[in-house]
Amino acid sequence: MTTLFEIKNITKNYWGTNEEKYRPYLFGNITAVLQKAERIALLGKSGQGKSTLLRTLALLEPLDNGVISFNGVSAKEMDTQHWRMNIAYVAQQSIMLPGTIEDNLQTVSKLHNRSFDEGLAKELMKDIGLEHLEWSKKAKDLSGGEKQRIALVRTLLLDPSILLLDEITSSLDQESKELVEQLLTKLHMEKGTSFIWVTHDLEQAKKISERVWYMEEGKLAIDSSTEIFFENRHPFSEQVML
Ligand SMILES: Nc1ncnc2c1ncn2[C@@H]1O[C@H](COP(=O)(O)OP(=O)(O)OP(=O)(O)O)[C@@H](O)[C@H]1O
Ligand SMILES: [Mg+2]
Repeated sequence: MTTLFEIKNITKNYWGTNEEKYRPYLFGNITAVLQKAERIALLGKSGQGKSTLLRTLALLEPLDNGVISFNGVSAKEMDTQHWRMNIAYVAQQSIMLPGTIEDNLQTVSKLHNRSFDEGLAKELMKDIGLEHLEWSKKAKDLSGGEKQRIALVRTLLLDPSILLLDEITSSLDQESKELVEQLLTKLHMEKGTSFIWVTHDLEQAKKISERVWYMEEGKLAIDSSTEIFFENRHPFSEQVML
């Protein structure tokens, strides 16, 4: 059986040479595999390199060492655009493209040569509680939480196989946060979409994931089932402080 997603010995060195660091890399020799569609929570203290890891997996930052593969094909062998359509990053700080909400929803589809599915866009906007928004509204005038959800819808319209989600509910109220969690869980169940979801919200991690990756000291210190991680039965769990 072909492996869905494989991360093999990847390393990202610290940038700059004049920083006095006790290790040469931000993260080093990280190895992990998704054999099938999975829901992963990526946890770790601030500054551990979680965002950088996700950006590297989306080919938005170069790798210093190692290999990543999707369905048995390495990133080096695949067209970057094609890779990013399958393995899509939703940023920690959502960036709106110029123009209206509609421009934002359409442009990303066009950039990836996908026809714009208006029906699906409406459905997704409704699912995450944004059905009341006029699509003619300027994207720059939206609230932080609205921008965050539109950035997610923009990416979901591409129907990626693996979503790299970077604190995508950090600006949301409880109700909107739950809508996003329900939508992503539904996509996993119905379409087999995987996600690697960075969060500092442990309740959220418990709810949305079946597996936890915990980053510490530049390593993937824990790769465990969510249940075991939170039941403190993992040998490393006493060191886990978020
Ligand atoms: N090559 C590099 N690429 C990216 N960040 C680097 C690099 N070298 C050093 N850094 C530093 O490492 C840290 C990594 O930050 P990153 O945003 O990935 O962490 P994070 O785990 O996502 O933190 P947070 O939970 O606060 O979002 C930053 O302080 C950054 O300046
Ligand atoms: Mg981050």
